[in-house]
Amino acid sequence: MTTRPTTPTLTPMADPVTDPDLVTGPGPDLVTGPGPDLVTGPDPDLVTGPDPDLVTGPGPGPGPVTERDPGYPAEQRDAVYRVIAERRDVRRGFRPDPVPADVLDRVLTAAHQAPSVGLSQPWDFLVITDRARRERIAALAARHRDEFAADLPRARASAFDALKIESILDTPVNIAVSCDRTRGGRHTLGRRTQPRTADFSSVLAVGNLWLAARAEGLGVGWVSFFDERELAAELGLPAHLDVIAYLCVGYVSQFAPAPELATAGWARRRPVSWAVHAEEFGRRGLPGTEPVDPLAEVIAAIGPPDVGAMAAARERQDRMTKPRGSLGELEDVSVRLAGLAGCCPPPLPEPACVAVFAADHGVHAQGVSPWPQEVTGQMVANFLAGGAVVNAFAAQAGAEVTVIDIGVAAELEPVPGLLPRKIAPGTADFTEGPAMTRDQAVAALTAGIEIARDLVAAGNRCLVTGDMGIANTTASAALICAFTGADPVEATGRGTGIDAATYARKIEVICRGLARHQPDPADPVGVIAAFGGFEHGALAGFILGAAALRMPVILDGVIAGAAALAAAALAPDAIAACFAGHRSAEPGHAITLSYLGLRPLVDLGLRLGEGTGAVLALPLVQSAVRALREVATFDSAGVSDKT
Ligand SMILES: Cc1cc2nc3c(=O)[nH]c(=O)nc-3n(C[C@H](O)[C@H](O)[C@H](O)COP(=O)(O)O)c2cc1C
Repeated sequence: MTTRPTTPTLTPMADPVTDPDLVTGPGPDLVTGPGPDLVTGPDPDLVTGPDPDLVTGPGPGPGPVTERDPGYPAEQRDAVYRVIAERRDVRRGFRPDPVPADVLDRVLTAAHQAPSVGLSQPWDFLVITDRARRERIAALAARHRDEFAADLPRARASAFDALKIESILDTPVNIAVSCDRTRGGRHTLGRRTQPRTADFSSVLAVGNLWLAARAEGLGVGWVSFFDERELAAELGLPAHLDVIAYLCVGYVSQFAPAPELATAGWARRRPVSWAVHAEEFGRRGLPGTEPVDPLAEVIAAIGPPDVGAMAAARERQDRMTKPRGSLGELEDVSVRLAGLAGCCPPPLPEPACVAVFAADHGVHAQGVSPWPQEVTGQMVANFLAGGAVVNAFAAQAGAEVTVIDIGVAAELEPVPGLLPRKIAPGTADFTEGPAMTRDQAVAALTAGIEIARDLVAAGNRCLVTGDMGIANTTASAALICAFTGADPVEATGRGTGIDAATYARKIEVICRGLARHQPDPADPVGVIAAFGGFEHGALAGFILGAAALRMPVILDGVIAGAAALAAAALAPDAIAACFAGHRSAEPGHAITLSYLGLRPLVDLGLRLGEGTGAVLALPLVQSAVRALREVATFDSAGVSDKT
């Protein structure tokens, strides 16, 4: 028989809706917790040494067959899951009551029982109550908060203003958790190969502390708005210790039912099924369910617009204090957004994020662009440094810019704002064979889906397409011809500006590609594989991912249009999520928009790409919703309607 550690008495599982414990904190059983040994007694391991059996006995092995450990009784198990589910990062509503020493001892003892690499227990806990010191620490956090806020896009900055990010002075106790990466010497089991495991161990101690505190009715808020060295100096830590966590601890009247960042609309939880993979990374699904690949999953999830919400929006537009139809195309935009959201009025499409997908194209070798291929990687660096037109336009519109290396033919330095998702360093030349394999096309689509999901989970409410890739107008024209049946002479444009000879060659290259691959528009993955850039595949996935989450996507020009054709071929209803930001000067774009039935919002002869035309349209889309939400109706304003 295996032995099981004694467990403290726990209250039975509560009904999360009605149980008053959820509101007022746990009952007395949880507060008195484990017996006095755990709190005051010496650690028996250190006093009596390890059990001699463990030293001299046989090593671990299969041993005799024993009964399976039954686990904990149901209500104790429920209590464990309950404390995990109801742990919250708490920043508001702290009470001034002091935290009794015995309670703190129990919580710290729980922290100290965390697993650690090679049993190195690299943590230390510095308990701080001194007000003057906490004031100095709060000042450090305030400085970093201001610096962070100054860097945010406008829509995020106003949302951030409303968030509370620390409670250093509102809580009676602060606890700094440190890590000693040298503890235990050089042969600490496991740490030599993975030095980061020391930090992981200290984080596990924080996890234990956080859960135990929840069970005690104590709120904990983790503050990371610090320069780690600056904080370590303020805490007077020995130089070889690193600060892992700074925690604000105190009693609260109640714990929020959901993370505050989710309630505030700042970010969302990802469903667990997105995080679990069956056997191979990317085959997602919980055990016991059929693994679904993200592409099949989003295609199945994309549905038609909600006609009831659209009718309500149309009806409201007619009652708003303005002549009927006087907002022109913007009325349709608001109606389509209501249909997408499934409610009227729909939520404001804010904050917005421009995702610039960058990749290189093998067809560049055919001399279809006067620009060298290196420019793709150089422009990525420019986007990340904030120096491109899309950055200027996004700053004006209050949107964030994220850059995705989906297939740039250069090694890119890891920098904040760059998502490294390279499928391959550029595609193959489509005049000589398929630009990519089918697997690569699916990988690009999947990457786009996941980026859309992640950006929505990060709190964005509007996605904007951007792209960068020397020679990508050639690949786009080929895709447009393949999907719409257009003639290459009509669909091919001059891209960044090419001379007559290059233009003629570009058309001839596209004709050769089409003749070679004989694309079948009923096989969209095959068409992407034949001609696409990786950015086309990823953009198609991005559109599908957004549509499945019923999030609006503002499309930029001809590259996004070509990707939208692929998305529509995979899931026709995906176009209900798409708004054509502008009409590009590329002739293939007009063909695409009329094929998809989309009307461009801006028509300024732009032919830059990057997402510039789409970002210009962002305030128009947002204004369309704001009008629907905020403009008074004839009834409410007491204004007489036309007779
Ligand atoms: C490593 C880490 C650092 C964090 N730093 C901060 C912080 O500086 N300020 C803050 O308000 N919340 C911080 N949090 C709290 C998270 O925002 C919070 O855990 C998350 O929103 C999920 O909410 P929940 O803990 O209530 O489930 C941090 C959390 C972790 C795990």
